[in-house]
Amino acid sequence: MKFGYFDDKNREYVITTPKTPAPWINYLGSEAMFGLISNTGGGYSFYRDAKLRRITRYRYNNIPVDQGGRYFFIKDTSDGEYWSATWQPVRKDLDNYECRHGLGYTKIKADYKDVESEVTYLVPKGENIELHRLKLTNNSSETKKLAIFSYIEFCLWNADEDDRNFQRNLNIGEVEIDGSAIYHKTEFRERRDHYAYYAVNREVSSFDSDRESFIGTYNNLNEPQALKSGKCSNSVASGWSPIASHCIEIELKPGETDELIFGLGYIELDQEDKWESKGVINKKPAVAQFAEYSTSSAFEDAFKIIQDDWTKLLKPYQIESDDKNLERMVNIWNPYQCMVTFNLSRSASFFESGIGRGMGFRDSNQDLLGFVHQIPKRARERILDIAATQLSDGGAYHQYQPLTKRGNADLGDGFFDDPQWLILGVCAYIKETGDVSILDTFVPYENNDELAQPLLDHLLRAHNFTLNNLGPHKLPLIGRADWNDCLNLNCFSDQPGESFQTTGNRKGRTAESLMIAGLFIFAAQDLADLLTTIDKTEQAEKTLETAKEMADAIRQHGREKEWYTRAYDFFGHKVGGEECEEGRIYIESQSWCAMAGVGLEDGFDRIALDSVKKHLATPHGIVLQDPPYSEYHLELGEVSSYPPGYKENGGVFCHTNPWIMIAETMQKNPEQAFEYYKQIAPAYREEISELHKQEPYVYAQMIAGKAAVRHGEAKNSWLTGTASWNYVAITQFILGIRPGYNGLIIDPCIPTDLGEIKVVRYFRGTKYNISIIAGKEEKGIFINGKQSDSNEILPEDNEEINITVNI
Ligand code: BGC
Ligand code: NOJ
Repeated sequence: MKFGYFDDKNREYVITTPKTPAPWINYLGSEAMFGLISNTGGGYSFYRDAKLRRITRYRYNNIPVDQGGRYFFIKDTSDGEYWSATWQPVRKDLDNYECRHGLGYTKIKADYKDVESEVTYLVPKGENIELHRLKLTNNSSETKKLAIFSYIEFCLWNADEDDRNFQRNLNIGEVEIDGSAIYHKTEFRERRDHYAYYAVNREVSSFDSDRESFIGTYNNLNEPQALKSGKCSNSVASGWSPIASHCIEIELKPGETDELIFGLGYIELDQEDKWESKGVINKKPAVAQFAEYSTSSAFEDAFKIIQDDWTKLLKPYQIESDDKNLERMVNIWNPYQCMVTFNLSRSASFFESGIGRGMGFRDSNQDLLGFVHQIPKRARERILDIAATQLSDGGAYHQYQPLTKRGNADLGDGFFDDPQWLILGVCAYIKETGDVSILDTFVPYENNDELAQPLLDHLLRAHNFTLNNLGPHKLPLIGRADWNDCLNLNCFSDQPGESFQTTGNRKGRTAESLMIAGLFIFAAQDLADLLTTIDKTEQAEKTLETAKEMADAIRQHGREKEWYTRAYDFFGHKVGGEECEEGRIYIESQSWCAMAGVGLEDGFDRIALDSVKKHLATPHGIVLQDPPYSEYHLELGEVSSYPPGYKENGGVFCHTNPWIMIAETMQKNPEQAFEYYKQIAPAYREEISELHKQEPYVYAQMIAGKAAVRHGEAKNSWLTGTASWNYVAITQFILGIRPGYNGLIIDPCIPTDLGEIKVVRYFRGTKYNISIIAGKEEKGIFINGKQSDSNEILPEDNEEINITVNI
C-alpha cells in the first residue's frame, strides 16, 4: 500500500494522507541553520549543533506522535471552526491534504471548507533563517473572515538541559516583543551572544509569547485557549515556556489569495554589540535579516536558488533508464540523503534525538564516499577536520563535536577499524578530484598543532596502526568494537545501563576481527594505488606486501568450510564459526574478505557469497548474522542484547548489504547484485509502505530480519551509512562508473533485462556520455565509435566524450 507517489519532474515525494504509518520527514538547510520537518509540520530547528544550539523544542516519544513544530491554525470567524494548515496539531479531517517533500524544502497543502492553504518551509542558501510562507485562498463564493495563528515553542538552547533541568529552566525564559517580531533571549543577559526571533511580514492583532497563556493550563495543543477565544492574550513570557504566536486577521473575497511570510531567525552578535540599551537586545541584524526575505519575490528567489543549487549538485551523475525506481534513487533521493548524512552525521533525525552523538570518525569518512562528487571542497575540509582528531599512534578518537571539532574525550578511542576508513575517505576524494596536494597538507594529530604532519603521514600511520595491533593469529585486534559497534569482545558488561562499548574494557589482546582484516586489505590496495600514482612505488610495494600477509593469515585462520569466520573472542573462541550454535555466519567478514579478493584465486569468495545467499538472504534484504542470539552473551556484548531479528542481532542492517552487492559485481554476478539492490532500495519498497513503515524515498538503517516479529519493518531512517554505501554500490559497481586515480573507470555489471542505460557523468571538467547495453554480442568499450583497450578513460579538459559499453 502506498501513501503517496514520486513526482520525478519536480524531484518531490508527494504524500497524499497525513496518516502515514510513521511521520515521514525532510530536512531544511544545508550549511549552518538546519530544520527537521515532518509531513504534518512537526520537527525542530537548530543552528549547527542539534544539542547545543537548539532553537525550537520538540517532544520525542510523545502521544500522539510527532509533537512540536512550526504550526499554523486557521479559524473561520463566521462559525468559529478551526483547523491546522498541516493537519497536526488540531488533526481535524481535511477535505484535501498534500505534502510535497522536495530537496531542501517542504510544501504542505490543506483544504477545508473552501479555504485552501499552502505552507512552504525552507532555509535560504547561506542564511540563518527559516522561512515559512503561508498562502491562503478563498475558494467559496462568500467573503471569508479568518484569524490565523502561528505557533512555535522555543528551546532554551541546550536541548539536553532543556529536557532535564526544570528547577532552573522554568525561571530563565525571557523574550522581547517588537511589532510583529517575538525575540527569544533566554540567557542572553549572561553568557550567550545569540538570540532567536519569529517574525511575520504583517501587522498582528495580538500575540502570545507564554505557552500557558496561549494553550491554557491542562489544555492540549489541538485546542488551545487562544483558538477558542479567537485571539491571543499579548502575553510576555517570564520564565516557564517561551513561545511565539502571532494572530493575524485576514479577509478574503471569493477567489482571493493572500500570503504571509514568517521568519524564524538566529542571530549572533559580538560582545560589544549585544545591547541596544540597558536590557534591550540589539535587534538591528534581525530586522535587516528578516527585511531581506519578507517579500514574495525574495521568497521565490530563495526557493529558486535552492532548486538551481540542487540541479547543480545532482548534475555530476545522472542516468536515464526504463526502470523509474532506479532513476529516482540514483538521480535524486540517494544523493540527497548522502548530503543530509554528510551534514548531520548521526545527530538529529526522528530516531536520533540530537542530544546524543557527535560526528563519528568512521561514520563521517564513509559519508564522504557518497558525497564527495557533490561539493569536493567541503569534502576536503571535512577530511582535514577528521584527520586532525586522529591520534599519533594512528588510532582515532571515535567521535568529535561539530562545534568544537575536537575529539570527544568521554568516548575516547579504541575502535580498531576507525583508522582504516580515513584511508578510504581520502582515496575517494583524490580519485574524484585528482587533488593529490591534499596529501602534503599539514594536519595536527590529537588537535595539537605541534604534532602536525602531512596528511599522507596520517594515512600511513592509519595503515600501520592495524599492523601494530595484531592478535595471536596475526589478525587485527578488534579493540572496543569494529564496524559492528555491538560486537564488544572485550567488554563483559553485566550491569543494566552500562555502555556496552566503554564499560569494563579489558585491554585484551586476543579478540581479533576478520572484518578489519578484509577492510585492511581493501584499504591497503587503495593506498598502494595512490602511492604508485604519486611515484612512491617502493612504499606501494611494501604496502601490498602487508596486504598479502594479512590475506595469508585470513586463509589460515579465518575460514570455515563455506564462509569466512567473523572474529575470535577474548578467550580465543570463534565468533561466526561452524561450531557456533548461534551467530554461525556473519555478513561483514564475507563482504570485506570478498571485496578484498582474499579468495578470488581459489574460488572461496564465491563459496562465501553463496553461503550469504543460503543463510542470510531474505526478500527484505540480507540479515547481519544467522541464527541470531537468543540469549545475552557476556563475552559478545550488545550484539546479543537485541531481541532476535532486530538491529545488529539478525536484522537486515542495510549498511552492510551494498558490500555484498559490490562483492557480487566483483564476481561478475549482475543479476544477484541488482536483486540485492532492489530488495532494500526504498523506492522499490514503496508498494509495501504499510509494512516498511518508513519514508519510501530514503534508506533506513535497519529492516527487521527474518527472526523478528515484524519482518520487513524498517526503523531509523535517514542518518545511516546505508546512504553512501548504496550510492557507491549502484553508481560505481553495478552501473560501474567510478573514479580512478587517473581517469573514469567504466566497468558496468548490470543485468540484461535492464535494457539500455544512459549515464552522464561530469568528472574533472569532462562530460562523459555513457551508454551501457547489456547482452550485446560484440562486447567492449567504444569511444566515439572506436574500441578502447583500457577501461579507465582519461578526462579531456572541457570536452565531451561519447562512450558506448557493450557487456
Ligand atoms: C546501536 C549501533 C550504534 C551504537 C552507537 C548501538 O546501540 O545498535 O547501531 O552504532 O549504538 O553507539
Ligand atoms: C551505527 C553506527 O553509527 C556505525 O558507526 C556502526 O558501524 C553501525 N551502527 C553498526 O554497528
